[in-house]
Amino acid sequence: MNHHQTPNPRHATPTGSPARGARRRNSSLTIRAATREDYPAVLALLNAAHLPHSDLTAEHLDHFLLAERDEELEGVVGLEGEGEARLLRSLAVAERAQGQGLGHQLLEAAEASAREQGADRLWLLTTTAEPFFARAGYARAERETAPKALRLLTEFTSVCPSTAACMTKLLS
Ligand SMILES: CC(C)(COP(=O)(O)OP(=O)(O)OC[C@H]1O[C@@H](n2cnc3c(N)ncnc32)[C@H](O)[C@@H]1OP(=O)(O)O)[C@@H](O)C(=O)NCCC(=O)NCCS
Repeated sequence: MNHHQTPNPRHATPTGSPARGARRRNSSLTIRAATREDYPAVLALLNAAHLPHSDLTAEHLDHFLLAERDEELEGVVGLEGEGEARLLRSLAVAERAQGQGLGHQLLEAAEASAREQGADRLWLLTTTAEPFFARAGYARAERETAPKALRLLTEFTSVCPSTAACMTKLLS
């Protein structure tokens, strides 16, 4: 029997979540609000994940969450916009940490944060992870049906290609 087997890490709590592998057993994961000082590290992570970031300023990080393990950045997710509908953007997990539930944890944390800020719907554009988001309850939508305020954001106007899938989810 494998005594180190852990429950599905996707259901682990953000802090102290157990995960596979000796390196990770003694380390704890923290999800926290980003600060503008995190800007260089966030850019590096987005760059490594091949996600567009040419429009990203340090001010955007006021609405970003980070996942850290042993003070190393492992994941990022951002919200943009105001009001009832927000844009979810820049979800990325460092390659070494992928496939262990962190992407879903960050997504859920961003959804909770959006709800706390009064949002009831999220929108996103993705060229790479449509099935990942579909499994989390996001549905394809016509880009033109997104609220105008979101369509004016740079992710819609310039950084994401018109071929990117537009997806949306009503937050419960
Ligand atoms: C998408 C991403 C954030 C997922 O992070 P993660 O921590 O690996 O995700 P989780 O561990 O929570 O979930 C993994 C599951 O999602 C699936 N998955 C991950 N990326 C996927 C993708 N691009 N397409 C389809 N499925 C994907 C995995 O196969 C896995 O499925 P399983 O549970 O059946 O094994 C990560 O792969 C990433 O950073 N990709 C590059 C950037 C990106 O495409 N971001 C999304 C656009 S905003």
